[in-house]
Amino acid sequence: MIRLPGLIDIHVHLREPGEEYKEDFSTGTSAALKGGITTVLAMPNTHPPLLDRESLRAAAELAKKKAYCDYGIYLGGGEHNAAKAADVAEEAAGLKLYLNATYGPLLLEHVSSWMAHFEHWPANRPIVAHAEDKTLAAFLMLSYLYHKPVHVCHVARKHEILLIREAKSKGLPVTCEVTPHHLFLTEADGKRLPPGRERVSPSLGTAEDVEALWDNLDVIDCIASDHAPHTLEEKDSRQPPPGFPGVENTLPLLLEAVQEGRLTREDIVEKMYENPRKLFSIPAQDETWVEVDETHNYEITGSDQFTKAKWTPFEGKKVRGIVRRVVIRSQTVYQDGKITVQPGFGKNIREA
Ligand code: NCD
Ligand code: ZN
Ligand code: ZN
Ligand code: ZN
Repeated sequence: MIRLPGLIDIHVHLREPGEEYKEDFSTGTSAALKGGITTVLAMPNTHPPLLDRESLRAAAELAKKKAYCDYGIYLGGGEHNAAKAADVAEEAAGLKLYLNATYGPLLLEHVSSWMAHFEHWPANRPIVAHAEDKTLAAFLMLSYLYHKPVHVCHVARKHEILLIREAKSKGLPVTCEVTPHHLFLTEADGKRLPPGRERVSPSLGTAEDVEALWDNLDVIDCIASDHAPHTLEEKDSRQPPPGFPGVENTLPLLLEAVQEGRLTREDIVEKMYENPRKLFSIPAQDETWVEVDETHNYEITGSDQFTKAKWTPFEGKKVRGIVRRVVIRSQTVYQDGKITVQPGFGKNIREA
């Protein structure tokens, strides 16, 4: 049995408010605990989206009653909310900008609104963005012009990780994350899934893209699941929404990579604990740890997940490493497949 610190997943979609049939604060945070994650940062592309003090507080109220693990909640950047969002920055995990089309109601079309967000948002929290390809280059330029720290979500392409490497080497305050699906699946793997299930944004990369991510692990600050639950009916429909559930499989997949010698346990701690804490100013959780049986062999199975999305793109994948027990603030919150605290145990990282 090994002990890890309580891990932090900086990119999850918990779908509340508005799409509780896909996930809610209770199911999403119970899935997190099963995956050894004791803090999640929830994305604002909900219904309604989280754009101001009222909507952020309404979501935080729901989380306060329902979350099993600690959480922070992002504000979303809208076309006209830059000043209002900055006003409530202290209560938010960070500011999320959707600069490319993806799932949900938030998309910033106008560079003028990106500029307004860069002007208003305080420099003590990163501006995080979904920014691919040319949009990524433009986003990095704004970081340079406004001297504000930026964080790039779910980097998936070779040229994108190389561009970020270049930006870092020039001293730009840029950080980034990658997801387990972009590290462990190629577009060829996606083609073997039932049609629709392979859809994810950014899409799965080529073998060369995947290799480039592994070759540039030192440029990758965080590993985050981008847990994006949709129902199987939706995924198997004619218009499948993009996204994979992932919060409960991230650690087992990474532990398997450790066993294969592709990653070290220190890399996991750095990218899922130390760097997330630093980047998002997340307070320490006292007397908190995760107990893992590193050698336990099993297959990932969608049907026994805690998320409401009872499927996974990793169906049948053999992994070694299972979370046995999770302790937060001296209390056992998860043990051998069972949540052992009441909903509402989790705390808002911004109320600490
Ligand atoms: C995310 C979702 O479903 O909210 N989907 C996805 O494919 N990653 C949105 C996003 O993170 O881009
Ligand atoms: Zn406008
Ligand atoms: Zn995205
Ligand atoms: Zn996402």
